[in-house]
Amino acid sequence: MSEKDHVLIFDTTLRDGEQSPGATMSHTEKLEIAGLLDEMGVDIIEAGFPIASEGDFQAVSEIAKRAKSSVICGLARANYKDIDRCWEAVRHAKKPRIHTFIGTSPLHRAIPNLTMDEMAERIHDTVTHARNLCDNVQWSPMDATRTEWDYLTRVVEIAIKAGATTINIPDTVGYTAPRESADLIRRLIAEVPGADDVVFATHCHNDLGMATANSLAAVEGGARQIECTINGLGERAGNTALEEVVMAMRVRGDIMPYKTDIDATKLMHISRRVATVSGFAVQYNKAIVGKNAFAHESGIHQDGMLKNAETFEIMRPEDVGLTETNIVMGKHSGRAALRSKLKELGYELGDNQLKDVFVRFKALADRKKEVFEDDLIALMRDQETGEVHDRIKVKFLRVICGTEAPQSADIILEIDGKEQRATAKGDGPVDAAFNAVKELFPHNAHLQLYQVHAVTEGTDAQATVSVRMEEEGRIATGESADTDTVVASAKAYVNALNRLLVRREKSDPDADVKTVSYKDAG
Ligand code: KIV
Ligand code: ZN
Repeated sequence: MSEKDHVLIFDTTLRDGEQSPGATMSHTEKLEIAGLLDEMGVDIIEAGFPIASEGDFQAVSEIAKRAKSSVICGLARANYKDIDRCWEAVRHAKKPRIHTFIGTSPLHRAIPNLTMDEMAERIHDTVTHARNLCDNVQWSPMDATRTEWDYLTRVVEIAIKAGATTINIPDTVGYTAPRESADLIRRLIAEVPGADDVVFATHCHNDLGMATANSLAAVEGGARQIECTINGLGERAGNTALEEVVMAMRVRGDIMPYKTDIDATKLMHISRRVATVSGFAVQYNKAIVGKNAFAHESGIHQDGMLKNAETFEIMRPEDVGLTETNIVMGKHSGRAALRSKLKELGYELGDNQLKDVFVRFKALADRKKEVFEDDLIALMRDQETGEVHDRIKVKFLRVICGTEAPQSADIILEIDGKEQRATAKGDGPVDAAFNAVKELFPHNAHLQLYQVHAVTEGTDAQATVSVRMEEEGRIATGESADTDTVVASAKAYVNALNRLLVRREKSDPDADVKTVSYKDAG
């Protein structure tokens, strides 16, 4: 295989993914995810949008300083101020990149109110400016797939002449289809002067469920960079999922003979981490990283699997970093066994952390006969979310349920170190528990999402509860797991509230990302 068959993986989980409402990550979480992407072999990490907020700027700068092998890229609109700020953040990287863009379709051109000629001039000037700062410049005509062909070729040529080294062709609204996606790239490469000297990239959104197919088709048309996110995180229906394009090219190398540098055995772990920190759970039947992606329940399937795994599996679970879901631990398991199992699952703990987790593991093992890998993952998530911002803690909860409403909840919360107790009624035990929290800690946040998943099977299974809350445009997600669904719900609610409080108090810079408009090209 030659260099020509190498497809660069550009991950934008921390930019396009993080932009999706409710997916805001903290500074520490962004650094952790960037570290995992770098280790996994991602070629380019789009670490954020530096002009959007002080928080984004700090995160991109810090990621740039820490990156070992990945190129670190920041996003900038088509104006000097954005580009300068972006450069200030990424310049710390061993391999920095500036990514500048402007909407070129008729609908997008109308927003900054520029004529075609004025926009062409703006593209020339801003790409030239970026290139004077940095050797590695990516340019994107936003909404390229709905831009008139003649105008698209004109502006792509201008960007190449002005010094862009990568031309990204975004399907911003998820409108294209595979054949069209391949043809568009193929024609651009064939017809735009200078196209052979740059890398063409594809950036697809999943509004019609075709993002992965469109990205792979673009590669067949000649693109050599795929822009994607872990778990397909991203605005609306999300972006192309990294794990899908990487595994598709690997499993179907016979018809898609392209290679990437991704260590696929790290996919499961990073998928779980992104799900946890973004608060966006992975759907059970999600390709590659969904809980059911390698589960075989029907008798025929199980029989076939026992005889030969290839009967129903086109890739092995271990290829994507999934270890076998067996009963892994019980109440007699010791600390060393727990440490080693957690290490296998991708969690390396220091002695003190292990001590805390072990206490919680023992408590869980006392309540639950069999502790599965998924239980341990839920325990770890709970440990982490519980540690983040904990002004409020649930100390005690008792609910009275019955066939007759209302139900009631008696709760003790520790708020800023002081224990307080309240009782409240509600329509069901969860509602009663939430009302009791509200009684002790009045707030105006409203619940946008409440989801319960069973972590494993059985009536003693842990429930993972995800909660999303919104207050004056600020959104926070919380998560918790417990064998008692109502306890998990109350803890998830308090967890989301804690995150919201931090955002409120610091007037969280992360939240500002959502207020910077792409419309403001000038
Ligand atoms: O979808 C899109 O067009 C983008 C651009 C900023 C590249 O995310
Ligand atoms: Zn996008």
